[in-house]
Amino acid sequence: MTTFISENLIVRKARLRDVGEIARIVNFYAERQQMLPKTHLQLYENLRDFSVVENKADPSGQIIACGALHIYWENLAEIRAIAVAEGMNRKGIGKLLAERLIDEARELGLEQVFCFTYVPKFFNSLGFIQVEHSVLPLKVYNECFQCPKFNNCDEIAMVLQL
Ligand SMILES: CC(C)(COP(=O)(O)OP(=O)(O)OC[C@H]1O[C@@H](n2cnc3c(N)ncnc32)[C@H](O)[C@@H]1OP(=O)(O)O)[C@@H](O)C(=O)NCCC(=O)NCCS
Repeated sequence: MTTFISENLIVRKARLRDVGEIARIVNFYAERQQMLPKTHLQLYENLRDFSVVENKADPSGQIIACGALHIYWENLAEIRAIAVAEGMNRKGIGKLLAERLIDEARELGLEQVFCFTYVPKFFNSLGFIQVEHSVLPLKVYNECFQCPKFNNCDEIAMVLQL
């Protein structure tokens, strides 16, 4: 059963001052081969894609999760770089954030979003279903060129109809 750690959690759009912490959270998992790494340049360039979770009760104002909605084309958008700070997992924070990104997709008029993931159960809990990689247009594989697993990708492709 998902339980929220605090009623003080807020989801908001990322700000420039969040970039260092987003990089730290994402690259912690990237070093463990759980997601793709992000450079500061990539994060600044795509910052407007990102939302973050902040605990208002924490005076340091440090964020505890991040995630992005990236638009490729009409009706083609990805939920990506979603990560919760180590030690804060399985408390409903990822779901809170993902639901906000999904709401954002709906507000933009998208009819579906996709993701590539190693944690299909998390995305299942949000209503995503698994699809063949070939279902997604080649355009979405742009970032994959930088991935060492380009030729033997083991991430699961999933789609959510909105
Ligand atoms: C995957 C991740 C974003 C999920 O966020 P979270 O806050 O830990 O997950 P939630 O508490 O919101 O989980 C909601 C539901 O998703 C499912 N779930 C979440 N993480 C799961 C996992 N590792 N394995 C299986 N199911 C999982 C469960 O059904 C869970 O509900 P429950 O705890 O009541 O059983 C987070 O664990 C994370 O940062 N992982 C490392 C980075 C990563 O893999 N990101 C995904 C990139 S696509």
